Amino acid sequence: MKPPYSTILTVLTWIAVFSSDGAAQPTWPSSIDELEDVMFLGSGYRSRGFHSFVTPCSASPDGPGRQTAAEWLRAGFHDMATTDIYYANKGIVHGGIDASLAFELNDGEDIGAGFNSTLLVYANFFNSRLPVADLIALGVYASVRACSGPVIPMRGGRIDATAAGPLGVPQPQNGIGQFTNQFARMGFNVTDMIAMTACGHTLGGVHAEDFTNIVAPGTAPNDFQLFDDTLEFDNNIATRYINGPDTDALSIGISTASGRNSDFQVFSADNNATLQAMTVPAVFNSMCISILQRMIETVPPTVTLSAVIEPYEVKPAGLQLTLLSGGTQLTFSGDIRVRTTVRSAAQISSVQLLYTDRNGASVSTPIDTVVAGTASGFDDSFSFYSFSVDLPVTTSISSFTVLITGTDGTTETYDNNGGGFPISDSVIVQTPQSCVNNGDLTVVAAVRSSVTTPVNMTVTEKVPRKAGSPTPSPVPSLVSTTLDMVQGDTIGPYNIYSASYSIASVAGTKYGVASGSFSDTFKDASDLGTTCGSLNVSEPSSTSSSIVSTSSTSVSSSPIVSTSSTPVSSSPIVPISSTPTIGAYSFQGCYTEADSTRALTGASFFNYTGMTLEQCATECVGFSYWGVEYGGECYCGNSLNTGSVLATNQGDCSFVCPGNSYEYCGAGNRLEMYLLSSLASSPSSISSTGTTQTLHIVPSAGLYNYYGCYTEGDGDRALGAAFYPSDTNTIEDCVAACSPYLYAGAEYGRECWCGNSFGAGSAPAPDSDCSMVCTGNQYEYCGAGNRLSVYIMNGTFAGGSAGSIPASSSQISSIPSSPGSSSTATSATAAATQTGATIKPSIGKYAYYGCQTEATNIRALNEASYYNYTSMTLEMCASDCGGYAYWGVEYGGECYCGNSLNAGSTNATESDCSFLCPGDDLEYCGAGNRLSTYYLTE
Ligand SMILES: *[C@@H]1O[C@H](CO)[C@@H](O)[C@H](O)[C@H]1NC(C)=O
Ligand SMILES: *[C@@H]1O[C@H](CO)[C@@H](O)[C@H](O)[C@H]1NC(C)=O
Ligand SMILES: *[C@@H]1O[C@H](CO)[C@@H](O)[C@H](O)[C@H]1NC(C)=O
Ligand SMILES: *[C@@H]1O[C@H](CO)[C@@H](O)[C@H](O)[C@H]1NC(C)=O
Ligand SMILES: *[C@@H]1O[C@H](CO)[C@@H](O)[C@H](O)[C@H]1NC(C)=O
Ligand SMILES: *[C@@H]1O[C@H](CO)[C@@H](O)[C@H](O)[C@H]1NC(C)=O
Repeated sequence: MKPPYSTILTVLTWIAVFSSDGAAQPTWPSSIDELEDVMFLGSGYRSRGFHSFVTPCSASPDGPGRQTAAEWLRAGFHDMATTDIYYANKGIVHGGIDASLAFELNDGEDIGAGFNSTLLVYANFFNSRLPVADLIALGVYASVRACSGPVIPMRGGRIDATAAGPLGVPQPQNGIGQFTNQFARMGFNVTDMIAMTACGHTLGGVHAEDFTNIVAPGTAPNDFQLFDDTLEFDNNIATRYINGPDTDALSIGISTASGRNSDFQVFSADNNATLQAMTVPAVFNSMCISILQRMIETVPPTVTLSAVIEPYEVKPAGLQLTLLSGGTQLTFSGDIRVRTTVRSAAQISSVQLLYTDRNGASVSTPIDTVVAGTASGFDDSFSFYSFSVDLPVTTSISSFTVLITGTDGTTETYDNNGGGFPISDSVIVQTPQSCVNNGDLTVVAAVRSSVTTPVNMTVTEKVPRKAGSPTPSPVPSLVSTTLDMVQGDTIGPYNIYSASYSIASVAGTKYGVASGSFSDTFKDASDLGTTCGSLNVSEPSSTSSSIVSTSSTSVSSSPIVSTSSTPVSSSPIVPISSTPTIGAYSFQGCYTEADSTRALTGASFFNYTGMTLEQCATECVGFSYWGVEYGGECYCGNSLNTGSVLATNQGDCSFVCPGNSYEYCGAGNRLEMYLLSSLASSPSSISSTGTTQTLHIVPSAGLYNYYGCYTEGDGDRALGAAFYPSDTNTIEDCVAACSPYLYAGAEYGRECWCGNSFGAGSAPAPDSDCSMVCTGNQYEYCGAGNRLSVYIMNGTFAGGSAGSIPASSSQISSIPSSPGSSSTATSATAAATQTGATIKPSIGKYAYYGCQTEATNIRALNEASYYNYTSMTLEMCASDCGGYAYWGVEYGGECYCGNSLNAGSTNATESDCSFLCPGDDLEYCGAGNRLSTYYLTE
């Protein structure tokens, strides 16, 4: 009898060949988008990490004797093997790749820990857009490719079973007659059976623990006998069977006596003809491509698989529209992923979005992008180009095309198969106003007033399957809940809706909003902060939006305190820095909360009106760690819970402490983290003199000196001659990359721009505007959105003081006046290695008191303070503190005054105060946690 299903398989195989040749691009968005990301973004920016489990080919988290790649390949066969094609048209379980394996682990046919660990990994990638069945198929692709095997064509669209399938996985003891029948039931003839067995058994081996009558315990390394002699996907399984030496425990050895030599029985079923053919590597590979593709495409006839998945040439990622306070503008941000496998990133000079507004009119000004990062898979590489622009709500956007300009001037336009990439502004999630706090998920949406259908929020959670019949599954179920959202303010042409829902965990939880045919869905609850920002009816009085943002998900730093129309500025007035030590504790950096729990769970204390770092330290006495979050929340603990890590952007901890405007107290989902100094051993936070570093403006690096904080140009880059973005950006790296340009500017944490002159419109800005921390150094400032921390080669801080710039540098032109121009200082800050500085015994009426430490739980001198990181001198501090009994200069640019030294401030080694004053390199201006201190003599 001819199995009806084989016809379908043949058709599918033909499509595969056609499709990989024709390589039609999918139209975005497509149902395979999530699968495509997991399949191709193996490592790098926005990567999904699926490949890492099988890379290298020998990888296993479970130690010697395990090989994840072999386990993934075997899971594919075991899930498929319960197929019964004879049931296909009878409305009975057909099986195939349907993830029924998750319910079959205790049925006696799926022996070994590998199936459970495989499914536990897949469970993490599983969501409403990516079924476990597709992950099982993708695991076959990934395991083969990671082990240097061929590309197995991959399609998406499988459907997960909700219960176990029938029995039927071939077992070693079955015998050739039963094997032939079992494979026929799956839709495979004898040749197919042999090929599938050989292609499956080129990876992995037999565990003595699971099959003592196949591999005798103690006879193989780690009690794991490989089928052939290599871990890779190669044809040694065939050559060693035919030509020897055969070490396959399912072919020779003790398995023979008990009739469990199943590989021998299968391989010799056609008198070795198929195995003989497979001794030719090319034949082996082509037979394996064909049979493994058929294996993963064995699905019920009710399932329609997609075309073979090819990577998009151009694919949007993380697109988001966000309504801004006042309702006149929307921020449009995201990344454009460009495949760089053939045309490399180096051959691309720009990627731009050409867009159509919501009324259907083309907008002439393109949206520019900057490189955000690169990623790669097994066979492809990608570059991501980031953008963030503010668009008027009246015209907004409806679709875009992507224009790639090559370095040779050629252009390519990607129009998403004709219609452009669609983007709808009718119903949007407002992530800055949405949050998760103690399990309460609050979602805010902005909905065009023209939309009159009810607005819903949907939350999809991963719920562990309950123990029960026949066995608990390692794969959770997805449970969706839909709620009505409540209408609130009207802001511009939008109505604001909100809804809250209690969730068990942010891990794996997705949410979205919808109304009628409009929706904005598939958002990760784990990306939300712990507090919801406000969206005001009127516009903030000043905005400093970045021309180009490289971060599409950022934690809101705006206070939620009120919905009043007078916005509260969240940026500190003076440049404040992280405080290196608080009593016995030292600063560890800006940390995230943990996965599904708080980072610190020992104790907590709240004071939203008066919290200071000192208060939290006092409350947490006895604990190893404490951290302050969202301004007023203090948490203590003896260990950091899993998932709490240094935030990618150290500048996230941007909330000023309500009780001390010179201290930072974390932010939403961000903790200002401290650890007992006696336990802290991070060498990176300790300078060579033993003093702890603080976040600061780097005064000089290499031949470059700090020049000031500058805005971007107007329609032009401030410093546009060269661009070196980096996730490990530091001032030192930036000036090195920019050499020999006259100016180097760090922007938005990770961007580094160079130029010999400033673009039109760039103007000096307050130093405090440049408040973002460098991606590569948590102690350095690297500009901000639309703000550059600018450095000048061989220059000085005295603006317009052309005399101090070497006459030989002919390329110097149009140097804008520096913000430090009012300073009396004329000489550049020298590198700390420069000699000549001495301890000044007296400054006016003040005499040198010593190099003092900070006090316990308080500043040594806390009655007044002044900051000038570019031109501080001892004279300047003496003048600022005139009248106080004491003053001291710390960390180069910080001046503190007081009438007494607070308790705990002790005399330190003179040489600790080793920072040269930025305004006078012949004077010392303290160091981290060290004050060059002077006292009033009359
Ligand atoms: C799978 O492994 C997990 C973690 O080791 C364990 O808790 C669970 O009981 C296992 N499930 C099965 C069905 O073996
Ligand atoms: C098994 O099927 C394959 C392809 O469907 C075919 O090429 C092969 O000749 C068949 N073998 C037998 C023994 O029928
Ligand atoms: C098939 O190969 C095996 C292993 O090399 C050998 O023992 C057996 O005799 C061969 N069978 C035939 C029919 O050639
Ligand atoms: C969600 O929206 C749909 C249509 O807009 C509506 O029928 C439904 O009642 C709404 N609410 C819930 C809780 O599903
Ligand atoms: C909050 O802090 C302020 C100032 O630091 C303090 O006066 C007040 O007592 C604190 N409140 C509580 C509840 O501890
Ligand atoms: C900066 O100074 C260095 C060392 O003195 C010199 O080699 C270099 O040419 C100078 N560059 C400029 C732009 O003046």
